[in-house]
Amino acid sequence: MSIHFETADSLQTNEIKNNSHSLGRLVEALELQSSAPSLEQIYEWLENAEIDAEELQPYIGFKEGNYWRHRVCRNEFVEMLVLCWRPGQRTPIHDHNGSHGGVKVFQGVLWETTFSFDEVKGLEYKAARDCSPGAVTGSDVPDIHQLGNPDVSGQDLVTIHVYAPPLGVLHTYKPGSAKVDLYVPDDTESLLNSP
Ligand SMILES: [Fe+2]
Repeated sequence: MSIHFETADSLQTNEIKNNSHSLGRLVEALELQSSAPSLEQIYEWLENAEIDAEELQPYIGFKEGNYWRHRVCRNEFVEMLVLCWRPGQRTPIHDHNGSHGGVKVFQGVLWETTFSFDEVKGLEYKAARDCSPGAVTGSDVPDIHQLGNPDVSGQDLVTIHVYAPPLGVLHTYKPGSAKVDLYVPDDTESLLNSP
């Protein structure tokens, strides 16, 4: 099932701030992994991350037609990406084919829609919600969802994603259909932005 956390001001205790990760510290933590980190660990990293715009700048870039995936780091066990969305851009409805992951909203409003799937009934709408800057959401296995920046938002969206293991071929779905297709996220251009 999907889990959703808001970063409340009341949680900004000294203890949490002392454990906070900049983008660089988060990359270091990911590169030290010798197995796929749990979803709970990914939430903890993202909730405690205090990433500023300057650190994120090398991974900020938008394109027309589709959201843009910028890879920050990737190894056998985990990967981190920054996704940049113009209003109206969204993912296909998909699951992560065995990976779990967390998403932190840096700027803008993220809309997430979740679905259930039954081989007889096909894909059915479950719920929708929006996430503001600082919020962390994510997907466990076998959650099905769609993420996007609604066209009525009137602003760009920037989100930080951590997946374990790194995403490979995803399953995609269509409303009212029992057909499942395969989908490989296009991040070839993001390699240009990798450190
Ligand atoms: Fe996803």
